[in-house]
Amino acid sequence: MCGIVGYTGKKAAAPILINGLKRLEYRGYDSAGLAVTSPDGIFVEKAKGKVSELVNKLAEHGEDSPFHDSSSGIAHTRWATHGPPTTENAHPHASDRIALVHNGIIENYKALKANLVSQGYKFLSQTDTEVLALLVDSYYEGDILQAVTTALKDVEGTYGIACMSQDEPGVLIVARRGSPIVLGVGDGETIVASDASAIIKHTRQAIYLDDNDIAKIQGGDIDIMSLDSGIVSREASEIDWSPDAAEKGGYEHYMLKEIYEQPDAIENTIRGRMDMERGTAMLGGLGLSPRDMADLNRLVIVGCGTSLNAGLVGEFATEDFAGICAEVEQAAEFRYRNPIINSKDLVLAISQSGETADTLAAVREATDKGALVAGLVNVVGSTIARETGRGVYLHAGPEISVASTKAFTCQVATLLMVALKFARSRRMSVVNGRTFVQEIKNLPNLVKQVLAKEQQIAEVAERYVKYEKMFFIGRGYMYPVAMEGALKLKEISYIHAEGYHAAELKHGPIALLEESMPVVALALKGPGKEKTIGNIKECSARDARVLGIITEGDEEAKSEVDDFIEIPECRLHAAVVPATVALQLFAYHVARLRGCAIDQPRNLAKSVTVE
Ligand code: M6R
Repeated sequence: MCGIVGYTGKKAAAPILINGLKRLEYRGYDSAGLAVTSPDGIFVEKAKGKVSELVNKLAEHGEDSPFHDSSSGIAHTRWATHGPPTTENAHPHASDRIALVHNGIIENYKALKANLVSQGYKFLSQTDTEVLALLVDSYYEGDILQAVTTALKDVEGTYGIACMSQDEPGVLIVARRGSPIVLGVGDGETIVASDASAIIKHTRQAIYLDDNDIAKIQGGDIDIMSLDSGIVSREASEIDWSPDAAEKGGYEHYMLKEIYEQPDAIENTIRGRMDMERGTAMLGGLGLSPRDMADLNRLVIVGCGTSLNAGLVGEFATEDFAGICAEVEQAAEFRYRNPIINSKDLVLAISQSGETADTLAAVREATDKGALVAGLVNVVGSTIARETGRGVYLHAGPEISVASTKAFTCQVATLLMVALKFARSRRMSVVNGRTFVQEIKNLPNLVKQVLAKEQQIAEVAERYVKYEKMFFIGRGYMYPVAMEGALKLKEISYIHAEGYHAAELKHGPIALLEESMPVVALALKGPGKEKTIGNIKECSARDARVLGIITEGDEEAKSEVDDFIEIPECRLHAAVVPATVALQLFAYHVARLRGCAIDQPRNLAKSVTVE
């Protein structure tokens, strides 16, 4: 969840490290720090708050300080797990000869710490990372690779680390177990990072470390070993998106930029995967023939947050069109409740980042239980993509905003393709398959029509800025949209928003309805609309203001609500996408009008790599 950057080469390290930290700030932003090596030792600077605070502190050092001319260093932007966000708890953590940055959690840090204290070590922070730094120090006898290798053998838990020693300037040691590390291969230089967005400005050649890999890097020389089995070879691969994709490109926020990228992102998701002639989808990465698919008994979908909400759409569409039993489950719950899984199940793990700890654990549990496991992932080379070995990449491009937008709509587009592929391997006719293909291909067009209404949605948002709580309700395919709309609003505006099945309202939540509790009701034309209109009436009768997400030109629905946003008419499994885009824009403008830090909401991080 935090961000790591490291540099070794011929250039000044600090500007490269700071630039990398800014790229990674979306992963964690409560404190930041940087360390460089020089002939005079290791120099560390840290600051509470955003990377800009660290930049201010670095500026206080004179022109001749090592921060200006050292050509190797490590840096970190933190999302607090152990200990509050303070300067002391910020990384790097250092002894007088070792500095280390770390993502992940050292589970046995208390026992390790007690042992180090008994050896006379003193601790300045409350972090597990300082324990690891001093553990490395305790094993250090002039060979940093050896010291890190030995220390990691004592460690239980997860880590992505970058480490260096005062005696070996220019040498970086990096290692991973459960927390990603990517090496950007340059000309006589290497940029190390926890995510490719920090290296893309310098090189597109990337080596992704595997779990238990440890690498010694000096300039352009990279030696990778496995903690289990000695020297290993890891091929470089090309990052397939451009540096511009990770920039704001003139938008005020990454979130807005990514909302607007959705037509292109969905095009990229479905490109080359639609077979109009045969009325089906081509998802070669799943590695499943129509016969294999016909043989499967069940689709089990796991994910968290937005990916979980997308999974619900997948469940509904698969049961609806393919007639195959489908279930969606929160990934952590899947892991811990001992689910019934067998070899006729396809377990589909959905994750934008491909690094979410709970989803990864569910992948491992499903693999151990003998299921076929596939990933539906955006980040190429991520852990879930690699561990599943089969699946579908979203190709949505980098998603920087903590609030997920384009990942959701691309996930839904992909899940509709999965449902179609299942359906065509069973009862769906080629004619109906072609209609379905056409609907998927039309999704970018539907999104464009909603984006064209941004101004109108912003005006609607003005009427909801003052509220501190809100319900989102929907039925059928609109239920996951209600969940996702509420999630978007709460995470970026801090309004207490809850998504409910519209029918559930009467079973408790209705007690909360009053003038100060508006309701966003998804009441599009299609199955369930009339019942939802009935629920809207119940809300209005209790003085709740109602914002209807309705079908374009539906005068009956308009007459029932106080405000409305119109969505182009289409069947409801497709309407999920434009309806969600409308709610993304609604949440965005409410948060903007409330002056919230939209791209960096409090307490959140982009990818949740702890349980
Ligand atoms: O990378 P993942 O898709 O696995 O992430 C799952 C959730 O952490 C993520 O969707 C989160 O809920 C977002 N902040 C929602 O906007």
